[in-house]
Amino acid sequence: MAIVHVLDHPLIQHKLSLIRDENTGSKDFRELVEEVAMLMAYEVTRDFPLQDVEVKTPVATMKAKSIAGKKVGLIPILRAGLGMVDGMLKLIPTAKVGHVGLYRDPETLKPVEYYCKLPTDVEERDLIVIDPMLATGGSATAAITFLKERGAKNIKLMCLIAAPEGIREVQSYHNDVDIFVAAVDDHLNDHGYIIPGLGDAGDRLFGTK
Ligand code: PRP
Ligand code: URA
Repeated sequence: MAIVHVLDHPLIQHKLSLIRDENTGSKDFRELVEEVAMLMAYEVTRDFPLQDVEVKTPVATMKAKSIAGKKVGLIPILRAGLGMVDGMLKLIPTAKVGHVGLYRDPETLKPVEYYCKLPTDVEERDLIVIDPMLATGGSATAAITFLKERGAKNIKLMCLIAAPEGIREVQSYHNDVDIFVAAVDDHLNDHGYIIPGLGDAGDRLFGTK
């Protein structure tokens, strides 16, 4: 069974509380989402293998460590996943970025695909699917399915807030995908919003309504 990692670092939790606050405007919301994504990237990459490299410091030569040839792909789910990309790129600057465009039909709550552009070598990359919200889990499940259909083998999912329903949905289809979240909230309301959540992540990031 895929593991759910709840990243409870105090900085992540503090910033997440500010993100949730309805009085936080779009500018601060965007900056905080980027910062939390960067902090979460630190944990999501914890299993990256290291190799020995020789480094000459100003006073000696030593065996140091470097990440062993990882090829990473960041896959934001449009739109709201975009808000997490720059923070992650600060820590993983060589990652390629692929985009999956999905929106939730407001009636059925089912994801509708409208865009997909991925790195050509997606099957060789460690992919991290990013989206602030894991609500019913429909969008993340569909995005991961698209990636697997295009050959992806190694996938993680990173979200700010998950509902238990969304975690169960992803696990039921994609048992091999570890999930990294800053919080697991209580439940979904009748409109598929996470309670207590943060509202509509895309609207708060981009100032739409
Ligand atoms: C939001 C969010 C996720 C999705 C989660 O996107 O960013 O992609 O809902 O819901 P689910 O787990 O029930 O599928 P939305 O469809 O509102 O589109 P947007 O990012 O363009 O605002
Ligand atoms: N999408 C959001 O942006 N927020 C939710 O609470 C659920 C889905």
